[in-house]
Amino acid sequence: MRIGVVGLGYVGLVTAAVLADKGYEVVGVDVDERKVEGLNCGRVPIYEPGLKELLTRSQGRLTFTTDYSRLSDVDVAFIAVSTPTVNGRISLDYVLSASRSLKVLGKDSVIAVKSTVIPGTARKVRELSGREVVSNPEFLKEGSAIRDTTNPDRIVIGGEAQWAMDLVEKVWSFTNSPVIRTTWEEAEMIKYASNSFLAVKISFINEIANLCERLNCDVNVVAKAMGLDPRISPHFLRAGLGYGGSCFPKDTKAFLSFSEDLGEPLRIVGAAIQVNEERPLRAVRMLEEVMGELRDRVVCILGLAFKPNTDDTRESVGLKIASLLKEKGVRVIGYDPMARTESVEQVSTKEECIARAEGVIVATEWEEFKGIEDLLKEKYVVDGRRILDLSKLKRFRAVGYGRMTEGRS
Ligand code: UGA
Repeated sequence: MRIGVVGLGYVGLVTAAVLADKGYEVVGVDVDERKVEGLNCGRVPIYEPGLKELLTRSQGRLTFTTDYSRLSDVDVAFIAVSTPTVNGRISLDYVLSASRSLKVLGKDSVIAVKSTVIPGTARKVRELSGREVVSNPEFLKEGSAIRDTTNPDRIVIGGEAQWAMDLVEKVWSFTNSPVIRTTWEEAEMIKYASNSFLAVKISFINEIANLCERLNCDVNVVAKAMGLDPRISPHFLRAGLGYGGSCFPKDTKAFLSFSEDLGEPLRIVGAAIQVNEERPLRAVRMLEEVMGELRDRVVCILGLAFKPNTDDTRESVGLKIASLLKEKGVRVIGYDPMARTESVEQVSTKEECIARAEGVIVATEWEEFKGIEDLLKEKYVVDGRRILDLSKLKRFRAVGYGRMTEGRS
């Protein structure tokens, strides 16, 4: 089978690499000439564990181009372009323009939509492309994208024409994952409902964390016992500074405005968004509580990526905290094992970052931030991700932890 992938961002590139590794001939298309040129020379534009090795291994079966006409003989073309949120609403511009360009496909080719799109989009893609369309949402997580793609929890195939659904199902037949066949709209709903549910779960435990701080409880103890109930599950119950990244913030907002437009507002998703947006401010307040007036003092942020094991800073809580602190006249320095950004002065080691600052906020739970309590003894600390051994700290506040500390009198 020959496969096309349109859009070489996170989802597209990982999909292309995995499918080529499984033996398919894959053509990846992107409008960004520099990205395509780089990929053809072996330069990988993102950091994702295992991706570079996979791309190297599948050389020969994988080509990158800006030329859509190279897709004319593929059996399945995946659309994996981005769907940004503009003014709280999803923009389908890239999906729709890719759909028009996919008129180059042969009449028996199928378009599979992987981009996260609001219900109703697959129908539009069919109108614009004149080809059969299947909705095949993606559930991969950054940091474990290859494992999630080779071994997904479920494969959702939404469509109308059975032969087209059969063809897309065949592409994924190397996995042993359960396949769920649905309509287009159901498939599109599954993606948004899943991401929004996870966001709600995070905001829920974060509100419980707020309460724990008042009651001298430890939210980790509460979450652990809650998670032992299989109906609740222990996943996505880590209280902290909230969710960031390229998906949850964007998808929850797009889903909320979509629901409002239909006159059935998802109030619970709206609340999750609001709770999440308050997290960075809460971290700053915690630091003020323990450190006092912040103006003209130096604060170090440990972790600028939106989560560990990625260099992605999109909607990163660390960067949001940095800009709130700067507004208060704080001198902010940052350290991250992998992420690079222009918006904060960055130093190259955590030791230097901590040594130069009076206050420290842990914003991402990188493995290398565990066990650093000795470096933090004389500092004012906010543990925003609950990775430190609090019994070894003197002057601190921690998310979802209410015990009195020296700095909190
Ligand atoms: C998320 C979903 O987990 C994937 O299933 C989905 O395919 C993807 O979005 C997408 O729509 O493309 P991702 O954004 O890579 O994946 O990252 P997650 O691991 O889900 O983390 C998202 C955010 O939630 C991070 O900022 C993380 O720190 C935060 N989080 C996660 C918590 O604050 N607490 C938790 O318990 C779990």
